Amino acid sequence: MRIDIQLLPFPPSPENLPQKTVVVIDVLRATSVIVHALSHGAIEVVPVTTVEEATRLFKTFPRGSTLLGGERGSRKIQGFDFGNSPAEYSPEKVRGKRLVLTTTNGTKAFHSVAAAEGVLVGSFLNGTATAERSLQLGRDILLFPSGDEGAFSLEDVVCGGMLIDRITRKSPAPVHLTDASSAARILYQNFEGRLLEAFRLSGHGRDLEVLGLREDLSYCAQTDVTNLVPTFREGIIRVS
Ligand code: MLT
Repeated sequence: MRIDIQLLPFPPSPENLPQKTVVVIDVLRATSVIVHALSHGAIEVVPVTTVEEATRLFKTFPRGSTLLGGERGSRKIQGFDFGNSPAEYSPEKVRGKRLVLTTTNGTKAFHSVAAAEGVLVGSFLNGTATAERSLQLGRDILLFPSGDEGAFSLEDVVCGGMLIDRITRKSPAPVHLTDASSAARILYQNFEGRLLEAFRLSGHGRDLEVLGLREDLSYCAQTDVTNLVPTFREGIIRVS
């Protein structure tokens, strides 16, 4: 098994995707919100790229069945039910509902890896379970940190490093790590037990703090609070 991580969030070339398991990672905050909402009873999440598409799609679902969430500039979008803070997606609000979600980087990332054999949703919240599922699937793995508007993002690569670390320790057979994967693993080992520090060093983490969203950082820095591993298939994310 070979594990690679795309350190810069350019869409992977399509020939690099078939026969692979891809894990999309946007810990601050899209994939953390998706894992959180599904683990609190949402039935599915539809990740979409633009605000217009989200609004149009939302209107096609029966009234009361669907919530509209997302952010631009990390702020709630006007007219939407929710922004992109996990705390907004409480069990009372999301149970039994579909969520149409659009975020700056994370929801887009799913569509750029749709050609992969399997696409999983990774975060610190479900890190070990995601690593175990990736290993069980037995294919080569590409970790895809969704980054920050085309730039490297520290917190996503640290999360990728956690998955690489877990997979490497649990695999009964030798795992081939690319140089990028070894670098991400070393980065994770540096921040293990101190993830909030990594968040506070990251540009996006600092931006969220300035916006008064410090609690989101603490929430998203928790590891292994759920065993759910959502899967993206045919445009929809569900727990499989
Ligand atoms: C994104 O998709 O870029 C993020 O989740 C942004 C955010 O939550 O602030």
